[in-house]
Formats: sequence, structure tokens, C-alpha cells
Amino acid sequence: MIYQRSSALFAAAQKVIPGGVNSPVRAFKAVGGDPIFVKEAKGAYLYDEDGNRLIDYINSWGPMILGHAHPPVVDAVVEKTKKGTSFGMPTEIETQIAELAVSMVPNIDKIRFVNSGTEACMSAVRLARGYTGKDKIIKFAGCYHGHSDSFLIQAGSGAVTFGSPNSPGVTKGTAQDTLLARYNDLDQVEEIIESNKNEIACIIIEPVAGNMGCIPPIKGFLQGLRALCDTHGILLIFDEVMTGFRLAKGGAQELLGVDADIVTFGKVIGGGLPVGAFAAREEIMNHLAPLGPVYQAGTLSGNPLAMAAGLAMLNELNNTPEIFKSLAEKTEYLHEGIEKALLHHNVTHTINRVGSMISVHFAKDEVVDFDTAANGNNDTFKKFFHGMLDHGIYIAPSAFETWFITDALTYEDLDETIAAVNTVSSTLF
Ligand SMILES: Cc1ncc(COP(=O)(O)O)c(C=O)c1O
Repeated sequence: MIYQRSSALFAAAQKVIPGGVNSPVRAFKAVGGDPIFVKEAKGAYLYDEDGNRLIDYINSWGPMILGHAHPPVVDAVVEKTKKGTSFGMPTEIETQIAELAVSMVPNIDKIRFVNSGTEACMSAVRLARGYTGKDKIIKFAGCYHGHSDSFLIQAGSGAVTFGSPNSPGVTKGTAQDTLLARYNDLDQVEEIIESNKNEIACIIIEPVAGNMGCIPPIKGFLQGLRALCDTHGILLIFDEVMTGFRLAKGGAQELLGVDADIVTFGKVIGGGLPVGAFAAREEIMNHLAPLGPVYQAGTLSGNPLAMAAGLAMLNELNNTPEIFKSLAEKTEYLHEGIEKALLHHNVTHTINRVGSMISVHFAKDEVVDFDTAANGNNDTFKKFFHGMLDHGIYIAPSAFETWFITDALTYEDLDETIAAVNTVSSTLF
């Protein structure tokens, strides 16, 4: 495929935007080459500036669960735009989406809308600290909760792709309050709690990890965290920025049957517009300003366009819950097809999948945490990525990312993808 115009646009962008991108994961640093500039997108397809059509497995890193430019979402935004784009005053639609979200997700009474997943996680941790009166937090190596200071300690996704899981600029003081554990290692969490008695405000976790590729929680792990939190007066925060409204109506809490104390959202909840949110039981949420002392605010929070997109998206998911089953079936079909192709060509791999999240790790052993994910063969991934791109299939330009399946993908698209995997696999060695 030809990417002449994309490369020219990237050259221009680099002069005025650091690295030419407004979020590092968009650069092709981990795989080499220039990023592709998108002109437009519809359904399961991206159309780039050179006129190439790509089957999209990133879907804006998760939000576009119903496909790009989904008519009810687009129409809702267009109609809302005509009535003014921001007021900094309450609007009825904020209550409508809040009521809907609270009705769909278990264990939450109130929800506060913000502008990104980062803001949601940052605010959730502040709320947990304010509520418990304790400072320290436990996070897991390879989990990504946005780019705020407390979380850039062994963060996954872009941070690890670019080799800086601990970012300069995070103070020692902040880093000291973030305690690090291995994903799926309950004993280690228990040890950390024991050696920091009465100091830990919360444990924050991706209930299904997506930022070191897809890694499911092993049996009993989340239940074990729940029990530890109950015993030690620690709040359990599920970062459902990826999994919320994707794995089920009620997200990972519903799918896996484990209750969190605070839940954070992003991606799907905004229908492709910049939205994040955090939610909890009333007694916790009432600690937030203006009711309580924990301060959190935002000029554009609850923005009418963002709320219109989010409400249209959640309404669709709420009214057609069979979508989650059909997404999981498509993902399973893809899994089986890719597995067969890779096995046929003797390519060492491990595929992890939960609902509509899937990733191919080029690792021989089971991938259960950051270290086992990092064992994957990055050279193989690079070849795989570029090979797939040559066949018009766009996956994330990093081995540490999940593929997101969208309802707009047809079985023909999946077959085209599997055929590409089959051809590309024969060139990997
Ligand atoms: C699990 C998780 N939490 C938080 C974030 C941060 O969200 P945002 O990029 O909207 O700030 C992300 C982003 O990928 C994420 O995957």
C-alpha cells in the first residue's frame, strides 16, 4: 500500500507537534515507519489520506464498539450542536445519561462525568484517599490508568512501549505512595498490605487487563482482592475505562461477578467524544464537592455534545444487550481462525481473549502478568504488524495492546483478517 500523503502530513506535523502526534501510542515508534493519517471512517473501516481502506481493530482504542460514524450517535451530536456547544451550567441530558449508567452498572448510585479516563482514575484515587483518610495506593505492573503522576509507575500501554514505564517528572514523593504488585499475584498483594498496615487507601486494577495486551484475571484473583479490601478497610477501584460497557452492560463487575467500591469509565461511555466518569455507592460519592470536602471539577465536564454522544451510545447498548453476546462470538471466531493459521505455520504464540477484547502475544508461555507479556517476541510482532497493514488490516502499533472488536465487523471482514494472518504467518521467520 502507498502512504505518500500520510508521510508528508507526518513530516509537517512533526514540525509543530512533539513527535507529530497528540498521544504517543499513535506513533509507530515500536514498529517502525510513519503513522497513518485518517481521513474518515465508517462502520468497521478506516479510510486514510492516501485512499487506502483498512479494517480497523483499534476503534479509537476502544470507544467505537458499534463502529465508526454510527448514525444514532452522529445524529445526536449534530442535533445537539445546533443548540450550543457548552454552557458551564447544568443540563437535563447529564441527569439522563447518569440515570441510564447507574441503571446499567451494578453497585453504583451516583456518577460524576469528566473529560477523559485519566481524569476519572485520578479523581477516583483522590476520592478514595479522602474517604479513607489514607495515602498509599496499590497498582499492578503493566496496568495503565492514564497519565497522571501516581499511575506512571510501571505503567503499561504507551509508557512501556516507549521504554519509560516510570516517567521523569513524577516526584519521589508521589512515587513513594504508589505500591506496585504483580497482576494475578494475590499473595504479593497480601504481603504489601501487611507491611503497610492501615496506610493503604485503595487498590486500583484493570479487572481484565488491556494495556499489556489482553490478560484475564486468573480464577479467584479479583475475589481475593475483594476479600483483602474488606478485611483491611481498603477501597477496591475497578478501572473499567476499557471494559466498561464493553464486556457486558455492567462491564467487568457484571461479567465476572465481583463488586468494586469505585468504578471508572472512559472510551465507550463517550461514544467517541472526550468523556470519562467515576461512580460509586452514595456514601462514597457524597464525599465529593460540593456535597463533601474532596474537590474535583471541570469547565467542560458534562459537555452537551459529549453527553449526547454518550447517551446515544449507552441507549443502543442498553436496548440491544444481545450485542455483547454477538461481539464475544465474533471474537471467538477470530481467535479460532488466527490460532489455526499461526499453528499451521508453527508461529509461537499465546492468544488471550475476554468478551470483545483479544490479543496475540508472540510468547510461548501463558501470559498472566507484565513479565510474561514482556517475554513476547517483539521482532515477530513488528513483522506481523506491517504484514497485516500491507493486507489492509490495522491493529495497534504495539505488542502491549488489545484488539477491540466492533459490532460493525462482518464475518467476511473476520475471514479477510484470518486470511491475512495466514499469509503473513508464512513470512514471519
Ligand atoms: C484502563 C485504562 N484506564 C485509563 C486510561 C486513560 O484514559 P484516557 O486516555 O481517556 O485518559 C486508559 C487509556 O487507554 C485505559 O486503557
